[in-house]
Amino acid sequence: MSDTFLDKAYNTAGIAATRDLYSRWAASYEAEVSQNGYATPRRCAEALQAVTLDFDAPILDFGCGTGLSGLALSMAGFSTIDGIDLTQGMLDRAGEKQLYRNLSLSDPDVPFPVRRGDYAAISAIGVIGAGAAPIDVFDMLLGALGTGGKFVLSFNDSTLKTPAFEKRLYASVSSKSAILLSENYGDHLPGINMKSKVYVLEKT
Ligand SMILES: C[S@@+](CC[C@H](N)C(=O)[O-])C[C@H]1O[C@@H](n2cnc3c(N)ncnc32)[C@H](O)[C@@H]1O
Repeated sequence: MSDTFLDKAYNTAGIAATRDLYSRWAASYEAEVSQNGYATPRRCAEALQAVTLDFDAPILDFGCGTGLSGLALSMAGFSTIDGIDLTQGMLDRAGEKQLYRNLSLSDPDVPFPVRRGDYAAISAIGVIGAGAAPIDVFDMLLGALGTGGKFVLSFNDSTLKTPAFEKRLYASVSSKSAILLSENYGDHLPGINMKSKVYVLEKT
């Protein structure tokens, strides 16, 4: 592969550069990741499905992008999904899928507009890590869940190379802010031989 957005994605840092990358990638994102067998949304949706009883309770798909993660959640049976993303071009594609209840543009410079307990579950699928959202977003999303709320997220191989990401996740477990319900390492983008870890946490 040469000069694809995937080549650039994992070296991008900062809000402005991330938004710029995904704005330019929005039109071809789905084709490029699909060609490479993007597997993490389905793995995350199935991991959350395995610990869910009420499939009508609202879920926030944070960093929903073009909606591939929402599509996987919907196919796993979840019926009430809101999406939020940093990039308007990605959100426009997500809107075309007509599966989200609400879609909104996030602004990292203002307080997160979600009250604790608004959502039974939050997903951050392919969102936190190298080339995307910083690790502080992990604390923000966990903090937005009420007791018993579920948090499904993934870290790809590029992100796992920076120990700070997993360290923060495991710290939330050792400090008893969350219980780790499952953890699974598997395919992310098999076309470029990249894997990811999928975690499901329960807020205590
Ligand atoms: C690799 S895409 C994943 C999109 C979707 N979840 C999927 O699985 O296809 C990462 C998305 O995260 C969004 N993003 C990156 N940083 C973000 C942040 N700080 N807040 C919200 N969204 C962010 C990007 O705009 C992009 O749409």
